[in-house]
Amino acid sequence: MQTVTALEAMRAHARAARERGMRTALVPTMGALHAGHLSLVAAARGRAGPVTLSVFVNPLQFGPGEDFARYPRDLDGDARLAAGAGVDVLWAPATEEMYPAAPAVTVAPGPMGDVLEGAVRPGHFGGVLTVVLKLFSVAQPDVAVFGRKDFQQAALVRRMVADFDLPVEIVVAPTVRERDGLALSSRNRYLDAAARPEAATLARALARGVELFRRGERDGAAIAAAARGVLEAAPALAVDYAACVDPDDLAPREVARPDSVLAVAARLGGTRLIDNVPLGAGLEGDVRVAG
Ligand code: PAF
Repeated sequence: MQTVTALEAMRAHARAARERGMRTALVPTMGALHAGHLSLVAAARGRAGPVTLSVFVNPLQFGPGEDFARYPRDLDGDARLAAGAGVDVLWAPATEEMYPAAPAVTVAPGPMGDVLEGAVRPGHFGGVLTVVLKLFSVAQPDVAVFGRKDFQQAALVRRMVADFDLPVEIVVAPTVRERDGLALSSRNRYLDAAARPEAATLARALARGVELFRRGERDGAAIAAAARGVLEAAPALAVDYAACVDPDDLAPREVARPDSVLAVAARLGGTRLIDNVPLGAGLEGDVRVAG
């Protein structure tokens, strides 16, 4: 595995791969890698030759008072995990190189960026799409892999790619979960021993919605309300939202369908947790960590 920081070095890798006629993949991350990220690498390796994994904690996507300063950073640990997973290029650009000056032109996500996470984190998706466009522009991947845990982000990236005719295939890989259902996230590192069991409540809320759907409930609002009820019954959680939405435009689904996404978000102490599931697939459609 080669580690590069400079944008020009990354461009040179992309150019060399293209000249050799190779199909390349990019797995964009903010580091603090875990098994969920490694599953994205596995998905990338199945679809392309050289796989680049980017590690960049993007300041543009954090709002004032959010966790940018304390977001976990462990490039040595990330490099070990990435090499073990078969990453070819680890690209860890410095902030000054990605943003030599504060960008004056940024990507506007439109209304899809104002709902769910966007309603709680104003400006977040503008920051995400701006950096993703820049990562694509430098690494020039044929394929880019994102996790379904951030399904709104994945939907917005797919929409940006379609609207801007970007020549990159977007793959969305299933969420990876702990044995009790908790979706893997770099932010789980913030959870202490007391909070950790409570965090699995989000997966239980999703399971409740899936159960209702399987029993024949088709009222999207009723399914969302049932999930919200599970969250509200946990005193440690402060609920941000529970919603049943369309997977593409994120609009609320009055009539739930198998591809409708049940999405939940809550705060547990100082940690924000998000999770979602397509109702038809249920949590069985996701991956459980071994052990
Ligand atoms: O999902 C993430 O880790 C980030 O939002 C991404 C896509 C790497 C952009 O900073």
